[in-house]
Amino acid sequence: MSKLDILIIPDRHLRQVCEPVTKVDGEARRLLDDMLETMYAAPGIGLAAPQVGVMRRMLVIDVSREGEPKQPHCFINPKLVWASEQLATYQEGCLSIPDYYEDVERPARVRVEYLDRDGAEQEIVAEGLLATCLQHEIDHLDGVLFIDYISRLKRERVMKKFIKRSKNVA
Ligand code: NI
Repeated sequence: MSKLDILIIPDRHLRQVCEPVTKVDGEARRLLDDMLETMYAAPGIGLAAPQVGVMRRMLVIDVSREGEPKQPHCFINPKLVWASEQLATYQEGCLSIPDYYEDVERPARVRVEYLDRDGAEQEIVAEGLLATCLQHEIDHLDGVLFIDYISRLKRERVMKKFIKRSKNVA
């Protein structure tokens, strides 16, 4: 396994729509393993393929608490097929927008269809932090970031900060 570089806004990959995975093969599994290693090292609770520059519909999640056994989940071609009317608010962050956190309101429960790392069709009904994390990561596959749900003023402020930062790094 190897750790991958995480892209930071305003990297253009983070705003593009990803293509479905057509074959769940060794290469796909290797990428999922690398994404898990990258997520744990960050540390983070979710990571989507476009965040490491791979424009494919794949993501990894582990919302287990510190000290608990690890619960890695791999989702390939995840599709949100149902969302509750009831909403829940969580303070969200993103490995591609380091050290920035804001409250985001999303459906409290969701049903997601996906392929697991063996290519088998699966369905999950998620609630709590897992529901929020799944929605956040699926958004990444469509070029959507959590800052798209906050006020325009706040979003413009954070974008400006990271655009400036990217110019300093380059
Ligand atoms: Ni994110």
